[in-house]
This record gives sequence, C-alpha cells and structure tokens, in this order.
Amino acid sequence: MFFDSHAHINNADYTEQDRMELLEAIERSSLDYVMDIGFDIPSSIMAAKHAAENDFVFAAVGCHPHDTKLMDEEGLDTIRQLTKQPGVKAIGEIGLDFHYDLSDRDIQREWFRRQIRLANELKMPIAIHSREADQETMDILVEEGAFSDERKSWFPAQPGGEPDARVLIHCFSGSAEMAKQYIKMGATISICGPVTYKNNKKTVAVVEAVPIDYILVETDSPYLAPVPMRGKPNVPMNVEYTAAKIAEIKGMTLEEVAARTKANAMRFYGI
Ligand code: NI
Repeated sequence: MFFDSHAHINNADYTEQDRMELLEAIERSSLDYVMDIGFDIPSSIMAAKHAAENDFVFAAVGCHPHDTKLMDEEGLDTIRQLTKQPGVKAIGEIGLDFHYDLSDRDIQREWFRRQIRLANELKMPIAIHSREADQETMDILVEEGAFSDERKSWFPAQPGGEPDARVLIHCFSGSAEMAKQYIKMGATISICGPVTYKNNKKTVAVVEAVPIDYILVETDSPYLAPVPMRGKPNVPMNVEYTAAKIAEIKGMTLEEVAARTKANAMRFYGI
C-alpha cells in the first residue's frame, strides 16, 4: 500500500541480524516498496545488495554531505559502477548540511557538485539532503544543470504536464514559498516524520501549498520517527503516520494518499 521513498536499512548501527529482521518485517507489512538510500560507500554497496536480493527494495547510491570528508576518486567510481546494478534507481543522498558541519563546507560543496555531474552523465534521478543550506543547495543545483532543459528532456513530464527534472528534495524542511519555487523548477519534494510534530506549522503549510502529485512520503528511518513513535528508533512501517497526517491536512483518505504517493515515487524513480 505504501512506498517509503527514503530509509536506511543500510544503517551502520544495525547488525546483519537487525537488517534481516527488518527486511522480513517490511515484507510482512502494508509497505509495497522501500528505497534504501546510500550515505557513503559501504552503505551504498549494501543498499544495492538489498535491492538485488529483495524485489520490494530499491536503492539510491551516493555520499551524504556528512561523509564527504572520506570521499575520493575511487569512491566516485564505485558509485558509478553500482548504478549499473538492477534495482539502483537514483544518485543520493547528496547535498549540503551546515547544521552539523561534519565535513568541511568546501569539501561538501565539491562532492555535491561532482555527484550532480555524475547523475547528469548517467541521466539518473537525484535525492537531495539539505539542512540549514536552503539557498546554496538550490544555487548549486541550478549551476550544475540539475534543472536544465536538457535534463528535463530525458524524463517524461509530470502528470500536470510540467517538465520533470527528477530532483527530489528529501525530508523537505524549507518554507512553502521555497517548495513552490522548487516545484516550478521541476523538482519533487518528500515529506517525513517531523510534519506530525506539534507546532510544525511550517511543514503543514508546505503540504497545503504543494499539489499531491509532487509529494512523496518517507521515514528517513532509523531517524525522525513520527508521532506517536517519536523518540523511538524509526522503521519504514511508520511511514503510515506521516501519510495519515498528509491525508488529514489535504482532506483525503489514507488510502488515497498511499496510492498517490506510491505512484509518484514509482514515477520519480522510474520503476
Ligand atoms: Ni537519509
């Protein structure tokens, strides 16, 4: 029923046993699909493996801004090789994180640019992580051609007929204004657990402002568990609570939100 468009079954803190149990739980649940998102080289290799071994898992491969301090040419080449595996559908998660600053900002910028160029070279969708770097993330995406007419010509149009650049802003935390601007440029946004947090009026306003055709749902598990699971380790099955919140905001049924966001995710990732 649901498509969790961003999760980390490849989380480095899980044991092999944890991952096996999680995959079994997903298979038994109301989830139809999960995207396992790479954040460094080992996790990208693992995501590709999970996708190869489970028909309900797809993968994105890439290096998260936190981990760019460990990136090198060999790492980039590994990412390029992994994209050839069936089940690998996007480059991600890549971007900028100026909240934690776990890698030097210039190194984050450099590898963000290099990985956008790789996605363009391979004509693949891109999953973006951006925290406290809203404007610069957008500027770099534009500068590197992520919203170019050429890129848009590679993908079918959005349901509304607008060109689609297949750029996903994951766990969107910006303003409704910025969301509308991104949609106009050809992006898609994904909503995660924090939309359920009390007082998160900003993300509620984003869901109100953006048509359902441009919204994906995700958990970013094991992080950011939605209410009523807040404070616990998150799991992909909790995507239901985020979808329920979107249904409430948009005056839709949970089934409708599940079906629409699943179709959006399949279109976005080219499944
Ligand atoms: Ni993530």
